[in-house]
Amino acid sequence: MIILQNIKKVYHPRRANAFEALKGVSLEIADGELTAVIGRSGAGKSTLLHILACIDRAESGSYTLDGTDVTALSERKRARIRNEKIGTVMQDFALINDFTALENVLLPLEFARTKKAGRRALAMQALASVGMAEYAGKPVNKLSGGQKQRVAIARAIVNEPALILADEPTGALDSKTAQEIMDVFKALHQQGKTVVIVTHDAAIAAQCDRTVEIADGLIVSG
Ligand SMILES: Nc1ncnc2c1ncn2[C@@H]1O[C@H](COP(=O)(O)OP(=O)(O)OP(=O)(O)O)[C@@H](O)[C@H]1O
Ligand SMILES: [Mg+2]
Repeated sequence: MIILQNIKKVYHPRRANAFEALKGVSLEIADGELTAVIGRSGAGKSTLLHILACIDRAESGSYTLDGTDVTALSERKRARIRNEKIGTVMQDFALINDFTALENVLLPLEFARTKKAGRRALAMQALASVGMAEYAGKPVNKLSGGQKQRVAIARAIVNEPALILADEPTGALDSKTAQEIMDVFKALHQQGKTVVIVTHDAAIAAQCDRTVEIADGLIVSG
């Protein structure tokens, strides 16, 4: 489903402080694969994930997602692909703190063309699938780290994306909670989703089908 060819990403291009964060990354990820991305701090892992998520665009190279070259698409079309096909879970959760869990999970459905009447049931279903149904009405700022992470996952999966991208989803959690969150990703993988997890945690990477290591903007193994 994913083919990256010679992707280069430069921050502040054509400026004195230009910085090449990805220096020619080529990578193929098959449908249904559970992939870990590892590497030192600053290696380019989040940059790679942002490109995969269509949040950011590469300076050169191509990114083909389900047969479509997304590098060439307009921002509008990329936003639609992001909403329909991709669920992202960011390390800082990126939830709206004074919204309830349910309100956070409803948000992507408001952007998608989901009929209003069905939204609440879909959001509740997503919360239930991560064991958070009973917290639906709680403001997110009253939840623990692991609970917030579950809400972030529910929000990422509510549109039923085929591709789920997570940046250090267990980084802020104790090892027991981290494993519970990993079990949620493994369950999604078992349902046939393609899952990419950036992690520093060897115990998390060991549970993936495959580990891709990135160093100084290049893939060095995997
Ligand atoms: N917006 C930006 N502007 C300029 N440089 C950036 C920007 N974002 C990242 N970089 C630089 O690009 C390189 C790769 O950053 P990236 O965030 O992808 O690393 P990472 O592998 O995710 O690191 P970490 O494990 O610390 O999250 C780093 O050297 C970083 O300083
Ligand atoms: Mg990062």
